[in-house]
Amino acid sequence: MTLENIKKLLEELDALKCGTAKEVEEARVRYLGKRGEITALFEEFRTVDKDAKREFGRILNELKQKAIAKIEALRDTLEACPDDAQPKADLTLPGDELELGSRHPVSMVREQIVDIFRKFGYDVAEGPEIEDDHHVFEALNFPANHPARDMQDTFFVSAGHLNPLLLRTHTSSVQVRAMETMPLPIRVVCPGRVFRNEAISARAHCIFHQIEGLYIDENVTFADLKQAILLFAREMFGPQTEIRMRPSYFPFTEPSAEVDVSCNICHGKGCNICKGTGWLEIMGCGMVDPNVLEASGIDSSKYSGFAFGMGLERIAMLKWQVNDLRHYFENDLRFLREFNTSLEV
Ligand code: PHE
Repeated sequence: MTLENIKKLLEELDALKCGTAKEVEEARVRYLGKRGEITALFEEFRTVDKDAKREFGRILNELKQKAIAKIEALRDTLEACPDDAQPKADLTLPGDELELGSRHPVSMVREQIVDIFRKFGYDVAEGPEIEDDHHVFEALNFPANHPARDMQDTFFVSAGHLNPLLLRTHTSSVQVRAMETMPLPIRVVCPGRVFRNEAISARAHCIFHQIEGLYIDENVTFADLKQAILLFAREMFGPQTEIRMRPSYFPFTEPSAEVDVSCNICHGKGCNICKGTGWLEIMGCGMVDPNVLEASGIDSSKYSGFAFGMGLERIAMLKWQVNDLRHYFENDLRFLREFNTSLEV
């Protein structure tokens, strides 16, 4: 035994690196095991000259302590990051595919409609889904016990008192909130979820989505309404689209109309989507009833306005020729993936 080879071992220990638990164990056996190098040196120590024993003893002990500490330290680092203890990853293997979700068709339609009205200068307003009778009916000119309330089968949250809570049946309630709080002139669209107590079928659901719009300013006329709807329809369904209006009734608008767009499948010739008529119904609209303006504190002798509202599922059905509304709520990935690509028809 020479001091030289003890020093060499000390240096070797300093530089020792292990990537796996197995390598650490091998190092321990090599240095400290029964037949390990350091154990062998201790054997040899017995034969060392008496004079040199002190010097060799000290340095041998230092070597052993160092080896024990080093093996411990290597074990600790491997435990702290156990992945290193595994065989190194094979970077040539193909990666795991991450499945990306896609936008829901109703969201896509909502965004497209909102974008169109933003271009026309409309803001977006949102309101609560659990509303009170005042915002859903009373302020919209539905008097108590008026049969028009039956047009919208309502889910009540708390019945019985003067202004019961209910699930909003249309987002016109958000328009009331806009009229109550926003400075005039008002130009808003209100997208949101609405609820009606209807039997679920291919054409109706108890939950669906609407987007309603409201424009109030001085001298707003029915001609402005027609023009806004025409421009919207052409942005949404293509530049050749025509619209027609049929007289209708809503308690909060007078006059009121139902809007049809020319069928973009058969271009007016008649097909099974438009049931041979050449027209597709897309929304209700009308001039805001002066009673409604007054109920929200707007001077109806100075201001007038129009409102419109449409169902997003219905627009999406027309746009992509989906024949059953229920598909939009079932979250069947095979259906939803159909819409991964472009919004264009
Ligand atoms: N709120 C009506 C509905 O839900 C739609 C509508 C909005 C009609 C604005 C006219 C004006 O059916």
